[in-house]
Amino acid sequence: MSTIKIRKADFIKGKSLVLRNVVVADAAFILSLRTDPKKSRHLSQVSDDLGEQVAWISSYENRDTEAYFIIEDFHGVPLGTVRMYDARGESFCWGSWILLEGVVSSAAIESALMVYAYALESLGFRCAHFQVRKDNERVWKFHERFGAERTAENEVEYEYNLSNMAIEVSVNRYRRYLPYGVHVEEFLK
Ligand SMILES: CC(C)(COP(=O)(O)OP(=O)(O)OC[C@H]1O[C@@H](n2cnc3c(N)ncnc32)[C@H](O)[C@@H]1OP(=O)(O)O)[C@@H](O)C(=O)NCCC(=O)NCCS
Repeated sequence: MSTIKIRKADFIKGKSLVLRNVVVADAAFILSLRTDPKKSRHLSQVSDDLGEQVAWISSYENRDTEAYFIIEDFHGVPLGTVRMYDARGESFCWGSWILLEGVVSSAAIESALMVYAYALESLGFRCAHFQVRKDNERVWKFHERFGAERTAENEVEYEYNLSNMAIEVSVNRYRRYLPYGVHVEEFLK
């Protein structure tokens, strides 16, 4: 079996959102999200240092195992971030998922569906795994409504798997949020 790789893509278009590959020029936007006390409460800490953020993104650009996206609207207005990483056989992990306060409430479901559509249709993954902090109840409930199953836990977080069947069921159930799947503009590495 050939190894499935997480490839970067320039633009992935959905129904009303775009996932655009992160570049160094996004450092200030990402830092503003990652240092927002409310938004970053359940995420790993990053230091409030633009230079470090720029260095992190530069090293991301040279890694061929991750895809990090700015979630934008069709006018190029940045709304958040999402990142795919840790490919394990047919399963991929995603996280660094943040949306600005006040974005349209369908953005969470559409962006999650876009991640699954890209991972399954474009890259060839079949299922997903991720970790969510136990006190991030809103987010683990989101994933459980998508069919995620808890597989492990430690003091601070739950580990989840989302099976191929669960993804298919959710993609169909929420088809109105992403009726035509995704359109990938250009694969990078
Ligand atoms: C993670 C994050 C992007 C999710 O976005 P969100 O908008 O909070 O997601 P929600 O669960 O509130 O879902 C958005 C809407 O879709 C609805 N929804 C979610 N799942 C649904 C489902 N399966 N079926 C129907 N409706 C659903 C919600 O009820 C909500 O609607 P409302 O706004 O009318 O109440 C956001 O919470 C965030 O930025 N959090 C901070 C960072 C973080 O903790 N990230 C996760 C760790 S990786």
